[in-house]
Amino acid sequence: MVVKIALGVTGCIGAYKAAQILRTLQELGAEVDVVMTRNALSFIQPLTFQALSGRQVITETSDTNEDSEILHISVAQKIDLLLVAPATANILAKFAHGIADDFLSTLYISTPAPTLIAPAMNVVMWQHPATQENIQKLRHRGVEFIEPESGYLACRMEGKGRLADTDLIAKHAVELATLSQKRRLSSLSPNRDFLGESVLITAGPTREYIDPVRFITNRSSGKMGYALAEAARDRGAKVTLITGPVSLQPPDGITVVNVVTSKDMFDAVHNHIPQSTIIIKAAAVCDYRPNRVAKEKIKKSGETFSLTLEQTDDIVASIGKIKEDRILIGFAAETEKVIEHAEKKLISKNLDLIVANDVKAEGSGFDVDTNRATFITKDGQRQDLPLMTKRELSDQILDRALKIKVLKQESLNKTA
Ligand code: PMT
Repeated sequence: MVVKIALGVTGCIGAYKAAQILRTLQELGAEVDVVMTRNALSFIQPLTFQALSGRQVITETSDTNEDSEILHISVAQKIDLLLVAPATANILAKFAHGIADDFLSTLYISTPAPTLIAPAMNVVMWQHPATQENIQKLRHRGVEFIEPESGYLACRMEGKGRLADTDLIAKHAVELATLSQKRRLSSLSPNRDFLGESVLITAGPTREYIDPVRFITNRSSGKMGYALAEAARDRGAKVTLITGPVSLQPPDGITVVNVVTSKDMFDAVHNHIPQSTIIIKAAAVCDYRPNRVAKEKIKKSGETFSLTLEQTDDIVASIGKIKEDRILIGFAAETEKVIEHAEKKLISKNLDLIVANDVKAEGSGFDVDTNRATFITKDGQRQDLPLMTKRELSDQILDRALKIKVLKQESLNKTA
């Protein structure tokens, strides 16, 4: 089924690149309506887009179609995605503040479809706090961005502001449009889009006992994993939460398995793999445990005391070896070289997605209600997310899991 995309083109020197984006979208099977702002007309002629798309280009708010419907409403209702590329600082400001004074800004405010924006502008405009605040505001509303690249800009300055690679923009746009179409066609409301999925989530720390009264553990509170469990439940999934010892109340309506040690967690996870379609490992499993647990409380003796530790089994890596077509998502809790270390874990543990969080950063990581993460996928895509609540991040992770599932299915269909 053809996906329908509205391609918004705004007034900047990179506007001519929108023609290449249009070509690639069409090659990827999308049906595209081009919407140009008045300023875009100073940089490229509508005729270019009309000749390429074979469709009328929309430039004015007052246009109506043959049925005399208001055109922006009919476009708003039919599209699977609104893509704006290139997007100027001006259109970002209008979107962020709900100003609807031309076709494109009216379309943004009237469509239920998701929006993807690829900005392009002068480096100073890009760095300006007004632009960055508008981007944050839109991100919080769920708008996705493909950030500009750094390099030599048309304004003869060096820096960030050049439109991202046109193929990357088009590919990402078609992925998002396919996902949004899937939701629309299944006539599910977007927040019940996990019906039929069985999601296995791990949360919290493990405890590795030294003796009956002492143990090694870490700072995990379970908040991230519990937020994931709640979000998956709210979206219609059957949820199993395998949790280390935490002081949180688990969400209603899910299966909860309490564990203590990494060995308990390993066994519980493996018992639940067969019935799971998506597995998310948010738990902070201890990497080492004492090589023997004393039966009785160890008595104080001498000035120093040594423990010999042995490695625990890597649970997520063991799932990676047998996961078949299940989606496997891991986290990376890092304090330095966050992306580099996360990328290594993504590969070595055979994950589909790794959620990298800098656990030293303010408001991020252990025992807080917020988190700032970067998504890295197997196909090399990277998305830096802003600081948000753990619940908001959970929904972003679930969105990404579904997207990966659609892509996996498509590639299976192609090879079948
Ligand atoms: O619980 P909170 O207070 O809300 O904090 C959230 C969090 C910081 C714990 C969470 O966001 C997070 O980063 N979880 C992963 C913590 C971790 O153990 O990261 P790691 O980089 O050491 O491990 C990488 C991955 O391997 C993780 O998915 C982990 O679950 C998994 N792992 C690690 C060791 C092991 N023996 N078995 C595993 O499955």
